[in-house]
Amino acid sequence: MRRPDDVRPRRRPRRLSAPPAPSSRVSLARALSKFGVCSRKEAVRWIADGRVGVGGAIEVSPERWIDPRHDRVTVDGRAVGDPAERIVLAFHKPAGLLTTRVDPGGRPTIYSALGDVGRWVFPVGRLDRDTSGLLILTNDHRLGHRLTDPEHMVPKTYHARVTGIPEEPALAALRAGVVLPDGTATRSSRVRLLGTGRDGTSWLEIVLTEGKNRQVRRMCAAVGHDVRELVRVRIGGLGLDDLAPGAWRRLDEHEIAALERGGARRGTAVPPPYVGEDRRGGR
Ligand code: URA
Repeated sequence: MRRPDDVRPRRRPRRLSAPPAPSSRVSLARALSKFGVCSRKEAVRWIADGRVGVGGAIEVSPERWIDPRHDRVTVDGRAVGDPAERIVLAFHKPAGLLTTRVDPGGRPTIYSALGDVGRWVFPVGRLDRDTSGLLILTNDHRLGHRLTDPEHMVPKTYHARVTGIPEEPALAALRAGVVLPDGTATRSSRVRLLGTGRDGTSWLEIVLTEGKNRQVRRMCAAVGHDVRELVRVRIGGLGLDDLAPGAWRRLDEHEIAALERGGARRGTAVPPPYVGEDRRGGR
């Protein structure tokens, strides 16, 4: 039923410029740590010390909301992720390295394997110490945000060797999304059984559009199949290809576009080292 005019809610005044979607905004301190510039604690200190600028003005509040896609953030006057001098690397992270700049315990990090890449770069997202595979490093925090923000749904493809042979109900549960022990639910994902081995393990392919902490390991454990080995073989449209463990290469603009689109495929995902002959198809 139509409301009489006198009780119709008044239109809100139009804003001159629409605010960014809340999902794309993060606090300044979180943005700096998320994009690998420094830890969140360090960011709070740097901001308090007046070293951080937003849009050309020094910002002293670590809680200031910024939109990483649009706001120009500087540290000591230098733009963080200046696209004019952007560098984007594909790195084949070997297992055993931490995805961090410095480990207080002195354990080896990805930077020990990377060596000098000529610029300051940060890892886009993290791979666990025991996970190997494709890791993107860049100095472009907008790209970093785009690739890690669940809103953009850039698919990440993993090959996981798990204990046992997951039956259809377990695969269906993984596809539909599972509730992890901490109560969070995972999104639906593409999952298929790639093969099984004589040692009683199987390889799964899992394509995620989000990146919760240790997500693949926790999802597989939730359906009773622990992960023994995990490799990320593709991000968006970019495959690990034949990049050797520990090696990196610079991506060209076409490859960066493919990464962001998550669509067009370039490069192939390396097949897992099957341990048996019993390869199966899947969905
Ligand atoms: N899921 C995991 O469990 N670990 C990773 O490193 C990446 C995704």
